[in-house]
Amino acid sequence: MTSIASPAVPGQIHERLASDVRNGLSASRKHLPPWLFYDEAGSRLFDQITLLPEYYLTRTERGILTTHAGAIIARAAKPSGSQSIHLRITELGAGSADKTRLLLAAAVASQGTVVYEPVDVSPDALEAARQRIEREIAKVTVAPRMMDYTHGPKLDLAPIGVGERRLVLYIGSSIGNFDPAEAAKLLGRVRAGFNPGDALLLGVDQVKDEATLLAAYDDASGVTAAFNLNMLARLNRELGANFNLAAFKHRVVWNSAESRIEMRLESRTAQRVRLHGLDLEVDFSAGETIHTESSYKYLPGQAEAALTAAGIAPVQTWTDAQGWFAVILGRVA
Ligand code: AVJ
Repeated sequence: MTSIASPAVPGQIHERLASDVRNGLSASRKHLPPWLFYDEAGSRLFDQITLLPEYYLTRTERGILTTHAGAIIARAAKPSGSQSIHLRITELGAGSADKTRLLLAAAVASQGTVVYEPVDVSPDALEAARQRIEREIAKVTVAPRMMDYTHGPKLDLAPIGVGERRLVLYIGSSIGNFDPAEAAKLLGRVRAGFNPGDALLLGVDQVKDEATLLAAYDDASGVTAAFNLNMLARLNRELGANFNLAAFKHRVVWNSAESRIEMRLESRTAQRVRLHGLDLEVDFSAGETIHTESSYKYLPGQAEAALTAAGIAPVQTWTDAQGWFAVILGRVA
């Protein structure tokens, strides 16, 4: 499950789909937004990616949470070092499956019950999360909230009870899709919705050797290539386009100046593609690419600095033995 879900409007061309695709493919440097990955097939492919030997992110973060969930919850629930307060757990994105479960179980262990509030634009993703979590963890009440947390001046969350504090989860390197300016805006939006004592748990992928980074996004079994190309299959289906998937190639580069992995779809030949539903024709030269995703990687201390700049004080950082992934707790005074 991912945090950038697609708006679900079956049977019609969604406005955001139409405008994002038209803008992206009309630009001089062609691009398509990563939310387009996550139709049904793409969400299944992403779940497969998280199981790949090359995709270290999911299992590394899960390892950190397996070891430290109790400490993370304890730290989040004790702002002053005095007495523990009751946490309500909000997650941006409808549940990162077993990783969220580790934190919810730790919260139940320490405070007895917990309200879990997944925030997502997809009603299907929210309903799936509700059923899964309520079935699997007794003492968790799921309160889904349908909302696009990437837009608007502040995270507009339901008010919480007296004596309660909010812990917002933004894990899974979801923030990696945003460039530094967008990431700063997103953290500012979270901060603006916070009350004193509220906390954020942020999962960020760390800069590491290039070969490891590249392999994670260009796996030997070709699952990530299929995930990338599926975006074109989606445009064929939903916009009546005629992309020939065999005429495009999955391309991955490490852009060290920008500290990001870039995923692109490269046109193997000069070709013209027609998007019937948009009444649009797009020309590609041989070797021209569509930029489909950026995955930003952080140096130690960088994410903490971004939190500080947003007015959220870093409290503690947990990492794995190799320092490949970091889970950071921040709080507002
Ligand atoms: C869901 C954004 C964290 O960037 O690693 C995985 C998406 N793209 N493989 C990432 C993704 C290709 C993933 N995030």
